[in-house]
Amino acid sequence: MKRKRVLIVYFSLSSQTRNLLHGLSKGLGEYDIDVEWQQVKTKESLAFPFGSVAATLKMMITTLFRKRVAIEPLTEDCFYPWDIIVLAGPTWSYHPSGPILSLLDRDGEKLFKERTVLPFISCRGYWRMHNWGLRALLKKKGARVLRPIVFTHPVAEPWRTIGVFLKLAGKMPESGRSWFHHFYPKYGHSKKQVNDAKAIGLIIGKSIEEKKDLTSLRFPTPVTAGN
Ligand SMILES: Cc1cc2nc3c(=O)[nH]c(=O)nc-3n(C[C@H](O)[C@H](O)[C@H](O)COP(=O)(O)O)c2cc1C
Repeated sequence: MKRKRVLIVYFSLSSQTRNLLHGLSKGLGEYDIDVEWQQVKTKESLAFPFGSVAATLKMMITTLFRKRVAIEPLTEDCFYPWDIIVLAGPTWSYHPSGPILSLLDRDGEKLFKERTVLPFISCRGYWRMHNWGLRALLKKKGARVLRPIVFTHPVAEPWRTIGVFLKLAGKMPESGRSWFHHFYPKYGHSKKQVNDAKAIGLIIGKSIEEKKDLTSLRFPTPVTAGN
């Protein structure tokens, strides 16, 4: 019997999406499934953090208008007829990130047409508009879009928003030396969430192996588990 093949296409600026994907891929890897990765690389390297409040504000405003970020070509292997493509990346100002928007513009039809696509979102906390927009773009390219997997940072507001902003601006809000640390112990996702991603990978892997209808898969949305 032909092994099922899954492609993970992702962009990740501060490694949060990538860490979760490692969990997901571990879960999938427990089944008889080939998992291949394609990182979406930007033509010009993007610094993380942005280094100042002004640079962070500028990035937030330009991304609010869905500014594209130029990307390198994908490898030819990506255009193989995968059983599932996981399309993963962060939310940037309520939208998919600039590199993922560029990917959809340039390769969307060739990559996603008639493919089953699983959107995978890593964000601080606001993912709905990103999800709607991404679904619409993927459908326009002819994809069959599954329900998304969404992970939000597991810290309460307003600390989460302030913490991410400070982190992007190059401060160390999670540093043990700051009073802020008490409210904001860590930037990004928790280890528990990486394990949750693995558990989701196991469910998807089992469903693929048992040839279940993946459109019926529904995961807790968002996955917010703490440390
Ligand atoms: C420019 C920029 C804008 C962002 N805007 C949002 C947003 O609108 N909503 C949100 O929940 N998170 C937002 N974030 C936070 C990221 O989505 C979050 O930190 C994510 O986990 C980063 O994933 P990555 O490390 O894989 O890039 C933003 C981050 C950046 C860099």
